[in-house]
Amino acid sequence: MLILGIDTSCDDTSSALVEFDEGVKKTGTPRVISNVVSSQAEIHARYGGIVPELASRRHIEMIWPVVREALGGKELEELAAIAVCAGPGLIGSLLVGCSFAKALSFSKNIPLVGVNHLEGHILSAFIENSPEFPFISLVVSGGHTSLYLANGFLDYTEMGKSRDDAAGEAYDKVAKLLSLGYPGGPDIDRLAREGNPRAIPFPRAYLPGSLDFSFSGMKTAVLNYLNEKKNSGDIPVNDIAASFQQAVLDVLLRKCQQAIKKTGVSRLALAGGVASNSALKEGLRVMAGKTGTELFIPSPVFCTDNAVMIAVAGYHRMKAGQLAGPGLNPKASLKL
Ligand code: KG4
Ligand code: ZN
Repeated sequence: MLILGIDTSCDDTSSALVEFDEGVKKTGTPRVISNVVSSQAEIHARYGGIVPELASRRHIEMIWPVVREALGGKELEELAAIAVCAGPGLIGSLLVGCSFAKALSFSKNIPLVGVNHLEGHILSAFIENSPEFPFISLVVSGGHTSLYLANGFLDYTEMGKSRDDAAGEAYDKVAKLLSLGYPGGPDIDRLAREGNPRAIPFPRAYLPGSLDFSFSGMKTAVLNYLNEKKNSGDIPVNDIAASFQQAVLDVLLRKCQQAIKKTGVSRLALAGGVASNSALKEGLRVMAGKTGTELFIPSPVFCTDNAVMIAVAGYHRMKAGQLAGPGLNPKASLKL
């Protein structure tokens, strides 16, 4: 069963062709045939963040070339469904993917499925692995930082979320303060390896009694530190990167441990762009080893935004009979 995935929720135009094995076990094991991502990072880099209007315009230019490349010569008639991300995300960006998917679906009479981007990230755990339910999912991206208890396909309980900035957003904002590239996460990840994570005591918002997160205070603390240091001429960029990253990771690790303890579930899946952070992965591996937790971390291409995860979520929605029609409208703040 072939499913075409499409994601234009933010600043990447993505499309993927995924085949689902409906064989003996009927598990819907995905086989990735193609995974095409056209990044807009270069366009937004000079502004240090995403410019929504530029993002939508670029999606319009790239959507057909990206989908055509993902199809790789397969005929549209061979598709069992088209799965498209319907939110949350930037509304102008989402509209491009949804309008395109609706047009394809209508013109060729192919079933259409609307997919929540966050469900896509949670189910990215199934692209290369097959965790048993229930498992805890930490989604850490540029737009979201949330902890879910995944009870089954299509059944998720939100245990906590960021009350302000997402972890990736904090990385990007701190990178901008340090005049690094965009998106800033990979640069901070790299520089932090050369710095001392205990050099600067940036605050950690643990929010006792809650599994929620807060990262905006850390970003402000970095800004205040830079303002204090401004006249001394010596800005220890590596130490700032390492200390900021340590503060973020301390909070993420503690919340994961608390979620495991609270639920008694010792399976943890990581998802979202920040899940490709080397220190986070290492920290989680150590924690998992100590607590006997089974850890599922996708390859970096499946951590960052991609359409394979949209196809996987679309497959399960379709199996549950949840098809969309021409009335499918994206929502910027679509709830899971
Ligand atoms: O999941 P994603 O591709 O898009 C959203 O749905 O937001 O995540 C992008 C975010 C950006 O904020 C980027 O800086 C961050 O993921 N990121 C990282 C790393 N690679 C990407 N953050 C920390 N360390 C990394 N290695
Ligand atoms: Zn995402």
